[in-house]
Amino acid sequence: MSDKKNVLVVENLSYSYKNGDHEQKILDNINAEFKSGKVYAIVGESGSGKTTLLSLISALDKLQSGDIKFNNKSLKKISGQEFRLKYVNIVFQSYNLIKYMTAAENVQVASDFDGRKTDPNIYLKKVGITEDEGKRLVNKLSGGQQQRVAIARALASASPIIMADEPTGNLDEETEEKIIEIFKDLAHKENKIVIIVTHSRQVADKADKILTLRRGKLS
Ligand SMILES: Nc1ncnc2c1ncn2[C@@H]1O[C@H](COP(=O)(O)OP(=O)(O)O)[C@@H](O)[C@H]1O
Ligand SMILES: [Mg+2]
Repeated sequence: MSDKKNVLVVENLSYSYKNGDHEQKILDNINAEFKSGKVYAIVGESGSGKTTLLSLISALDKLQSGDIKFNNKSLKKISGQEFRLKYVNIVFQSYNLIKYMTAAENVQVASDFDGRKTDPNIYLKKVGITEDEGKRLVNKLSGGQQQRVAIARALASASPIIMADEPTGNLDEETEEKIIEIFKDLAHKENKIVIIVTHSRQVADKADKILTLRRGKLS
């Protein structure tokens, strides 16, 4: 998988939310191309539709108009569940860790799922979580530590696409720096497609390409 050139294409994508009887257009005919080996930053003001766009790209929400294709295959033809299980790993804004498991177990789940069965501590160490911290239930960890566990879980999975919604929102500058380097390695060394939604200028500036979402348009 890692030598393969993967590409995710967004074609004429529009999306609206219905609030009562009025429709709010969030995405207005967006086109974009995401290739393996590169880090993409999606920036935009709060409410500009960044999370909505990620939800569509990761097949968490159903397409309304336009298309998204992974290696030329429309997401309309793959079940959302299959697409997420096989191809995408998402670092959610709200971490989405399994609360009754330890940090190490949360990471273990992702590597077991892909049949890799690697030691979770390898990934936890990369994000600065010690073995002792790894043995704690995730809700006994701070917000910043939970965020790093969520990133470690993405590292442990074999999926070719990594998406992250504000992955450094709760981290100090030094940790943020380290996390960006990890995302860059995932793209540049492991040939993954990395898409990061962020409002941090420092994070965006380190990406290979910056896409700005404004009034429904991506530029
Ligand atoms: N499920 C929903 N129903 C209705 N409106 C929504 C829903 N989710 C998001 N919105 C609205 O869509 C806009 C874009 O939201 P979002 O994609 O979360 O933006 P961002 O991540 O850039 O802050 C906001 O105005 C938000 O209030
Ligand atoms: Mg958001």
